[in-house]
Amino acid sequence: MARRPKLDRRTFLRGAGASALLGAAGVRPAGGSVLPVFGFDPDRQVFDFDEPFDRFGTNCTKWDGAVADTGHPIEVGMGIADTDFRAAPCITRALAERCAHENWGYLRRPAKYAEAVADWNFRRYGVEIDPGDLVWTTGVHPALIAALLAFSPPGSRVLMTTPVYNGFYTDLRFTRTIPEDSPMLRVDGGRYEVDWDDFERRAARSNVFILCNPQNPTGNCWTEEELLRMGEICLRHRTVVLADEIHCDFVNAGQKYTPFAALPDRKIVDNSLTFKAQSKTFNLAAMKVSWWYSTNPDYQERVQANSRADLPTLGLVANHAALTEGEPWLEQLLPYIDANQDFAESYVRDHVPHLHYTKAEGTYLAWVDVREIMEAIDAERIAAEESKSSVGTVTPGKVVQRWLAERAGVFLSPGDGFGTGGVGYMRMNLGTQRARIRQALDNIATAVAEL
Ligand SMILES: Cc1ncc(COP(=O)(O)O)c(C=O)c1O
Repeated sequence: MARRPKLDRRTFLRGAGASALLGAAGVRPAGGSVLPVFGFDPDRQVFDFDEPFDRFGTNCTKWDGAVADTGHPIEVGMGIADTDFRAAPCITRALAERCAHENWGYLRRPAKYAEAVADWNFRRYGVEIDPGDLVWTTGVHPALIAALLAFSPPGSRVLMTTPVYNGFYTDLRFTRTIPEDSPMLRVDGGRYEVDWDDFERRAARSNVFILCNPQNPTGNCWTEEELLRMGEICLRHRTVVLADEIHCDFVNAGQKYTPFAALPDRKIVDNSLTFKAQSKTFNLAAMKVSWWYSTNPDYQERVQANSRADLPTLGLVANHAALTEGEPWLEQLLPYIDANQDFAESYVRDHVPHLHYTKAEGTYLAWVDVREIMEAIDAERIAAEESKSSVGTVTPGKVVQRWLAERAGVFLSPGDGFGTGGVGYMRMNLGTQRARIRQALDNIATAVAEL
């Protein structure tokens, strides 16, 4: 495993977008005027992730979408998996420079883009990727769909350890494949573990296993031993592993991300494809750039046959800046997120009756046990009642979501969308300012007190 390079002052300044050429407190686009860089103090070389940052009115899903969905004035949007921080200054600078050029014709993709991805993965995780093997896509979803089309015909089964990312179910509906949920076992209310007998039984009848590493929403950073065991079972049953590692840059202190493609067994690795992006890391989801690859040329060819992606100019510019200059920003964001996780765990324990939360190993997501609220508000009965007269099914999770939006002004994602084992949980996005987490939890505690 390659060691992370130490940050010297020059690297740091380059990453912070604060080179002497650009001036101390701003970025200077080609046209001349200086754009302010907030959230960054060049003298202290510190990024201020506590800086209040208002996203309302930008058509963002997390805040504007939450208000539109619920019809309530949401005070804290904690749903969809993106973050609320001002972008890394190097990204803003690179975009400003490119925008100043004012021409948006077709784009070529010089080797430097793929090299930046390969360098990042080698530098941070010791994975050697041939830049020539990278296939660009406009998101992990289209790439997963291309892989499902290649390996899992309509009606075939797709294995997942659940609770798992709700978006996978949309990809399965799109490809008319069938979810094969292998519910995980929860050890003492804490870490989720694979139920190995169940996993093997289901792998034997599935074409594909979608691995989520680290796992959204439970936060599992899968160990090498666990990944090897999953990989061995899948190899034995000729189940292709699709390793979605989009959250891999968010790993809490004391934990480790093990890339599936770095496992010490060539046959297991050759039975997989890896799907990644910088979109969670640097909050570039709407910039529509991600990539996948496989060490297996046959798999590579089969999925490529279903893939076509023309990438957006600004997306590539932003991603390149992030990969080549964004590491210092990220190195400060990671402890901030880790501290958010600690804060949420202790604040829930000390101040929010009816909620339970054990700190995740990775991701900026929190998988919160809301079973007591569900029971107290009679969510199952209400859901069953409303489902009779509604076009779609109303789930207990939806009822809890609505209750929290109405009574606490907080928007969370209902756990029952995350597959078997999700009922009674909500996913809370902690990729935000700590003051907002406190506000959300205070609001929930106040609402709960009125029950
Ligand atoms: C595990 C996982 N995979 C994929 C995605 C979506 O990826 P993209 O926006 O690149 O399609 C998400 C978004 O939340 C996710 O959590």
